[in-house]
Amino acid sequence: MSDAKNARLEYDGKTVELPSLTGSENETGLDISRLRAETGIITYDPGYGNTGSCRSSVTYIDGEAGILRYRGYPIEQLAEKSNFLECSWLLLNGDLPNTKELNSFTNNITIHTMLHENFRKFFGSFPKAAHPMPVTAATVGAMSAFYQEKDTPETLHETTIRLLAKYPTIAAWSYKHSIGQPFIYPRNDLDYASNFLHMMFATPCEEYEVNPIIARALDQLLILHADHEQNCSTSTVRVVGSSQANIFAAISAGISALWGPLHGGANQKVIEMLDAITHQGMSAEDFVARAKDKDSDVRLMGFGHRVYKNFDPRARVLKKACHDVMNAMGLNSKQLEIAMALEEIALNDEYFIQRNLYPNVDFYSGIIYKAIGIPVNMFTVMFAMGRMAGWIAQFLEQKESPEFRISRPRQIYTGAPERNWQPVDTR
Ligand code: CMC
Repeated sequence: MSDAKNARLEYDGKTVELPSLTGSENETGLDISRLRAETGIITYDPGYGNTGSCRSSVTYIDGEAGILRYRGYPIEQLAEKSNFLECSWLLLNGDLPNTKELNSFTNNITIHTMLHENFRKFFGSFPKAAHPMPVTAATVGAMSAFYQEKDTPETLHETTIRLLAKYPTIAAWSYKHSIGQPFIYPRNDLDYASNFLHMMFATPCEEYEVNPIIARALDQLLILHADHEQNCSTSTVRVVGSSQANIFAAISAGISALWGPLHGGANQKVIEMLDAITHQGMSAEDFVARAKDKDSDVRLMGFGHRVYKNFDPRARVLKKACHDVMNAMGLNSKQLEIAMALEEIALNDEYFIQRNLYPNVDFYSGIIYKAIGIPVNMFTVMFAMGRMAGWIAQFLEQKESPEFRISRPRQIYTGAPERNWQPVDTR
């Protein structure tokens, strides 16, 4: 990290020196932390679109070049060669584990997957029709009542294991509750993704035979969603953690932030689009024509991206996984046929080619989840399962940072100036 060039800001006859920071990939920021103290003015950046909130060594993204790296490792290599628990270790510890470390970490996660039995009653107290997202957010928050020790490096290590191990159980039980089926307990002989599929789809009457192609696709989805630097939910985890609230509270808040349709809900829109096309009896060609028509407000959901302007590296990986899953499951759904036709037409259409509109991660993840049998209201719960690793890594990084301080943005006040209290009727 080199802090070579400074900037000078002139305002109202005063000149302020703003030190610059340069990261390891040469992205540069101006340090404005002394600006208010020296001039009385603040910066204004709604949505923090141009604000660096921290220094972080976890994840690097270059949207123009289609780059996503965890701790320096390209996402394509991790998706091909690694598995979700190894990537989680990488995000948490800064480097890949050796065999002994990975085995011990995997074993530790495997033996902590059960929930305290009182959680059965906790789940039972939610309405049957409860959406699984608030149920998972509430359950993760409630874990702080079961594990009340103060956050220290040792307890945080255990908490990390508990969160990663128990979240798939929480997710599967939130689904079982919503369909009124008995909860299925975890199995220690299965890997992370297979165990989750077992808890989702087995019943006391029937075992669920896990297809390794499906389990691998799910594991890849978790890898691809594991971190995405300072996005809305990760920033939420950091903001809550900055008050020294416990990690369960911070992660629960992150899950709630992820629930919003502008963040974790986009793959649901893909399925809604496929539903609409099927119900209206439209062809893929007709829908693409409508999406290109500037007089319609229709868009091809799952295409285009705000950050990735050439391609979404996660989508490239998922395209193959998606086709593998479809072949393994047999292409037996009208919706999935339409999805593949939309992809084929749009990738060869001048409108999409000229505007650099490629399928994004949500196009394929929605289709894979649908093919596996994961219901639409569980999509964001699945996203949170992968992102859990990144949220914890970012929480821990913040906690250890020498720059740790409570998050407290300023504002430009636009309300009424001072006025005296007076009954409204006598004004
Ligand atoms: N279908 C049809 N036309 C599109 C689409 C689309 N999906 N996306 C962009 N365009 C057109 C848009 O009309 C515009 O055309 P013109 O230049 O003729 O006016 C041009 O492409 C540029 O679009 P933009 O809206 O300026 O691009 P943006 O960077 O502001 O928007 C986006 C990015 C993701 C919001 C947008 O591409 C979109 O709405 N896509 C569909 C929704 C979607 O898939 N969202 C999930 C994004 S991935 C989330 C994640 O990473 O977690």
